[in-house]
Amino acid sequence: MQEPGTPATPIEDAKRRAGEAAADMVEDGMRVGLGTGSTVHHTIVALGRRGADIVGVATSHRTADLAASLGLRIVTPDEAGHLDITIDGADEVDPAGNLTKGGGGAHTREKVVAEMADRFVVVVDESKLVPQLGPFGTPLEVLDFAPAVVAERVRGLGARQVDVRPERSDSGNILLVARFDAIPDPADLAGRLAALPGLVDHGIFLAPTVERVVIAGVDGVRTMLVTPRTTGGPNA
Ligand code: A5P
Repeated sequence: MQEPGTPATPIEDAKRRAGEAAADMVEDGMRVGLGTGSTVHHTIVALGRRGADIVGVATSHRTADLAASLGLRIVTPDEAGHLDITIDGADEVDPAGNLTKGGGGAHTREKVVAEMADRFVVVVDESKLVPQLGPFGTPLEVLDFAPAVVAERVRGLGARQVDVRPERSDSGNILLVARFDAIPDPADLAGRLAALPGLVDHGIFLAPTVERVVIAGVDGVRTMLVTPRTTGGPNA
């Protein structure tokens, strides 16, 4: 995020434009999933600035704190039950709309909140577009029980290396990053990772869960429709 008093870099400016464009998709009365990261930060700030009358579900403590500081109402996922829209960032977006997420360690909660929503909208600057998922590393959240065993199983799926991150998730679990380098079949790997006992969730989000990606770059803001929904409001 931009330090106060310093000029925005082109990437920071693109993050702001993508985040603010997605805020325009939110209408008063909506129940809104709020992602985590420096891009969706701008969505949340825009919603707070305009005094949006929404009910929000936050994907992390830091997002909950930001939203609350801006006067937005935050409830738990169980209290909301169902969401109209979730807006979140991503670390990688492939041409089919598959994502890597979890650079901020929040991917498990982000996946829950994305799944709760009719529409999952992703906000990125164009540096996140990749020909194939993998170079960023695949974030994993694992139980604090047998992390080395889980890491060995992940290496068995083709990871050249599995690193332990210093911080924990908001749920107190261990965070790993698997270095697959290239992921030719994200759906296949996502299924294999999801089947590993002790692995709480992985950071691969598949294209069928993504409605659209809002991409900001030097030429402005554009939308990549991934899996359009059959229902939706005037901005659908
Ligand atoms: C949080 O765990 C992540 O999934 C973020 O959504 C992702 O890392 C994107 O963050 P930025 O918008 O800060 O790049």
